Amino acid sequence: MSLSLSLRLVSLGLFLCLGTGLAHAAGSAEAGAQVFKKCGACHAATEPTNRVGPSLMGIIGRPVAKFAGYNYSSAMTAFGEDGKVWDEERLSEYLMAPKAMVPGTKMSFPGLKKPQEIADIVAYLKTAVAQ
Ligand code: HEC
Repeated sequence: MSLSLSLRLVSLGLFLCLGTGLAHAAGSAEAGAQVFKKCGACHAATEPTNRVGPSLMGIIGRPVAKFAGYNYSSAMTAFGEDGKVWDEERLSEYLMAPKAMVPGTKMSFPGLKKPQEIADIVAYLKTAVAQ
């Protein structure tokens, strides 16, 4: 097999894994509450309290960079200027590599590598509305 063909097969395989992982992984809110510990140093999820990062209460469907009383970076403010909303798709992509989606964000978190962890966190954050 030629090198370029095997490289193409490898990248196709990766593409399929990532694609199906994100599209079909069913998230578990319970598992997501555990994964959220990685965010909890900087974010509250069930109270409207800003820490190092803004509260993530009700984040699914919330406009980007609009949580009251939080001082966003100019990068995140600019990213939200056209009225973007954190829907499940945008949030999942952001959590894979925050700085790739919002260059210059002050969220110093490298990202979650596992599609399942992202699906779980999104499922958890959907439950973190008002408790
Ligand atoms: C080291 C601290 C830190 C960690 C850990 C962290 N974040 Fe953040 N996060 C921030 C900061 C700071 C901001 C504000 C970014 C800006 O203004 O550029 C932010 C912003 C965000 C936003 C945008 C909120 C809005 O109102 O637009 C989301 C969504 C988010 N974080 C989700 C998460 C999730 C989910 C995790 C865990 C997987 C996480 N963050 C981990 C510090 C952190």
